[in-house]
Amino acid sequence: MRHFLADDDLRPDEQAQVLRLAADLKASPYDAKPLAGPRTVAMIFDKPTLRTQASFAAGIAELGGYPMLVDGSLAGIGVRESVPDVARVLGRQASAIVWRTFEQSFLEEMAEHAGVPVVNALTDLFHPCQLLADLLTVQEHRGELAGLRVAFVGDAACNMGNSWLLAGATAGMHVVVSGPEGYLPSDAMLQRATDITSHAGGSVSATHDPVAAVTGADVVVTDTWVSMGKEEESAARELVFADYSLTADLLAHAKPDAIVLHCLPAYRGKEIAGEVLDGPQSVVWDEAENRRHAQKAVLTFLVGAAGGTS
Ligand code: NVA
Repeated sequence: MRHFLADDDLRPDEQAQVLRLAADLKASPYDAKPLAGPRTVAMIFDKPTLRTQASFAAGIAELGGYPMLVDGSLAGIGVRESVPDVARVLGRQASAIVWRTFEQSFLEEMAEHAGVPVVNALTDLFHPCQLLADLLTVQEHRGELAGLRVAFVGDAACNMGNSWLLAGATAGMHVVVSGPEGYLPSDAMLQRATDITSHAGGSVSATHDPVAAVTGADVVVTDTWVSMGKEEESAARELVFADYSLTADLLAHAKPDAIVLHCLPAYRGKEIAGEVLDGPQSVVWDEAENRRHAQKAVLTFLVGAAGGTS
């Protein structure tokens, strides 16, 4: 059974295949019906959501399936019932399970017991569906991914920093992440990405210097300084991250035609200047739309691999 729990669950050739399929599905959104039945996909959110719920629901419907929203607070996964028991129950109702939660280990437990593909809709550690959308967006604006230089600026220890390391490395990109002391990826995460570069090409590195990271970049990425679950650290983080705001001055160090990505929600004047988010180099609305196309592609891939494509 194939799952999508972390970016490197797709090998480089598989990631390329999913991205090609995403582009095809974007061109013809209503033709492919691998979830015809309709087959049910369970979606569970233990953290806030807008784009993820909307894009999965719309995408599952476009694939001919039924998006079943399971209220995480009512289900009480891990509290009212164990993760394995929830997995066994949902796996009997749904053809796939999409889950946004906190611990990566919860998701791994779900995958172990569900008997159907499990998709990571964001954990504290990774946001791999966002990365497929990001890579699709870069491909649309820049063509070939391999060899492009990406700079991630901000909380490089968060799920988006980690996912950029793994997914960018898988795509053969040169990924530099930049954040203040205490907010760079773990050595284990950097090593995991470095291992990918040994067969996929590209490179990964981390630096405290945002100007060095952005200089010469083709793609500049940022994300909120305060990820979901860290709200009580907001005030402290605003001080720590003050020098890591994606301003027009910082962006000027990138290539003149560099594109800007942000997974949203964005906080103008904090991690990104309003004039950058709303400026000509920003492709964030394409990026938000591409969640649907990318997730349709990965669901098609996983359900097909599970022998379930009708
Ligand atoms: N790092 C952010 C991503 C939001 C889509 C968070 O986890 O809240």
